[in-house]
Amino acid sequence: MSVIPERASWKIKDAAILPELLALIELGADEAALLGSVQAHAKTAAPQMTAEFYRRLLAHPETSEYFAGKSMDHLHGMIGKWFIELFDGTYDEAYARRRMVIGEVHVKIGLPVRYPLSMIDVVLPFGEQVARESSNPDMGVGAFRKVLSLDVAIFNQAYEDNQLKHLAELVGGERLARMLLAGAG
Ligand code: HEM
Repeated sequence: MSVIPERASWKIKDAAILPELLALIELGADEAALLGSVQAHAKTAAPQMTAEFYRRLLAHPETSEYFAGKSMDHLHGMIGKWFIELFDGTYDEAYARRRMVIGEVHVKIGLPVRYPLSMIDVVLPFGEQVARESSNPDMGVGAFRKVLSLDVAIFNQAYEDNQLKHLAELVGGERLARMLLAGAG
């Protein structure tokens, strides 16, 4: 098996990824405030966004089966809250941790990650429309994209953490698990 070099990023784990990602997206205080200033618009847009979100997921047998027996009213409320929180205005570790828990909920129901990732296409235009209501539409849209990327990264990380943890337990070490996941052969 070929050896891949130890990476600094491998040492950043669990909650430590949250400040790292927050630094990486380089969201300025002015951008955060701009997003916070249009949260009322996000509340107005949320029902339309959630309707389109679930319309798509319920139209496909492979995604709709996850909702059998679930209260759709409750889920509409949860996804609406998630959308409105994108315009929270405060993007700190507590914010990022709340988003990580949402990712973990989806890991636990055995949902392939391609489904949540493909739903970004639904969220993006609604979010951009809200961001354009701000006093600086271009900056608002740019800021929204950063905050949405943060969610995508956190969601994905919840999946990767889970895979790595279980593989490391199985093979007796994280380094070997990382090499296997990298396809090093
Ligand atoms: C951008 C993508 C998505 C976001 C932001 C999202 C957000 C959420 C949120 C906030 C919750 C509530 C979590 C909690 O209980 O605290 C939730 C639950 C749930 N989501 Fe998603 N979701 C996404 C994609 C999907 C997809 C693609 C499916 C299925 C095809 C799905 C199925 C579910 C189910 C079944 C639950 C209920 C889990 C349970 O309580 O048993 N989600 N989602």
